[in-house]
Amino acid sequence: MSPRPFAAAALVAAAAFAAIPSAAQDVAAGRRKAIACQTCHGLDGLAKLPDAPHLAAQPAPYLERALRAYRAGERRNEVMSVAVKTLSDEDIRDLAAYYSAIQIEVKAVPQ
Ligand code: HEC
Repeated sequence: MSPRPFAAAALVAAAAFAAIPSAAQDVAAGRRKAIACQTCHGLDGLAKLPDAPHLAAQPAPYLERALRAYRAGERRNEVMSVAVKTLSDEDIRDLAAYYSAIQIEVKAVPQ
């Protein structure tokens, strides 16, 4: 075995390890920021009001797109348009990372 493939593999491994703490930091920051959302969406991502959607385990890109759409006024809702007004791009990324990291279990659909 030449040393080259080994070096490349080591680099890939190093990059993967470097990515983990930053993703974990986003999730931790998102959890702190989600306190502003918990009355309606829950800190566990399960809706606490009948007209609020569950956010737990939704894909991060979907959550980000929804939050950006509310902020840009492309998607309108009385409460959400206010809730996202002061969110930065980083807040949106962190919140999406947090809610998408929550794991849910789906039971079989009754036949
Ligand atoms: C006062 C209640 C309330 C608060 C606080 C609130 N939301 Fe919402 N949220 C709602 C409701 C109601 C909807 C559904 C709006 C609609 O029909 O478009 C919604 C929709 C959403 C959606 C779209 C979900 C989907 O499936 O399309 C996201 C994402 C979201 N909220 C994230 C957040 C985040 C993040 C926060 C905190 C920064 C927050 N919300 C704060 C009530 C709230």
